[in-house]
Amino acid sequence: MNNNFPKHIAIIMDGNGRWAKQRGLKRTAGHEEGAKVVRDITTHCGKLGVEFLTLYAFSTENWSRPKLEIEFLMKLLEKYLTNELEVYLQNNVRFQAIGDISKFSNALQKRITLTQEKTAKCTGLTQILALNYGSRNEITRAVQKLVVQNLAVNEENINSCLDTAHIPDVDILIRTSGEVRLSNFLLWQSAYAELFFVQKYWPEFTSYDLDDIIDDFIKRERRFGSV
Ligand code: IPE
Ligand code: IPE
Ligand code: MG
Repeated sequence: MNNNFPKHIAIIMDGNGRWAKQRGLKRTAGHEEGAKVVRDITTHCGKLGVEFLTLYAFSTENWSRPKLEIEFLMKLLEKYLTNELEVYLQNNVRFQAIGDISKFSNALQKRITLTQEKTAKCTGLTQILALNYGSRNEITRAVQKLVVQNLAVNEENINSCLDTAHIPDVDILIRTSGEVRLSNFLLWQSAYAELFFVQKYWPEFTSYDLDDIIDDFIKRERRFGSV
């Protein structure tokens, strides 16, 4: 495979609410539509031979949303993981989660753990959902682990205490919906990522859009500080 082919693609799936509003629907309808796109893009990345796909599904800041929307998102996530297990296995997709899932209901935590366990032996794409994830929270927890284990504070040790310990740095970081910000997503891991900001709302994002981004990425020269 082309040396420049991305190993790790990360996506801030934004714009579900605006997509729905534009159509006179409830915000929750946008989340439901967005979940379908998660499946499409995951399958596509698997076929392309991408190794890691990290999707921002719920941030540490998203708890500030209306209670009903949060409840809907939690139910949607549980339903998604339940229905998706067969699809993961059929497509040889390994599922993992990053973020502090201890804040979720017991049932949802169990579903997350079960999905990880059942797909642990899959050798194709690893799909990573960022759930109650925030980079500041992740880095803080990593440093706390170093202190508890009395380890030296250096980049290597911090890296190995992050939720993404065994996952390579991000090559391509995409945000949909036209917003140009990172919203506390993979700040450490994206230090040298190529950034792509797409106007489309997440429910409108297709595998063709992803192909265009990968084509563009392959042409970019990544210098990593060198000349
Ligand atoms: C992203 O879409 C999904 C989540 C954050 C869970 P939004 O819900 O943020 O949709 P907009 O940005 O309000 O349109
Ligand atoms: C980022 O989107 C979080 C997820 C996509 C899960 P938000 O919609 O929460 O981000 P802000 O509030 O626009 O920065
Ligand atoms: Mg948003």
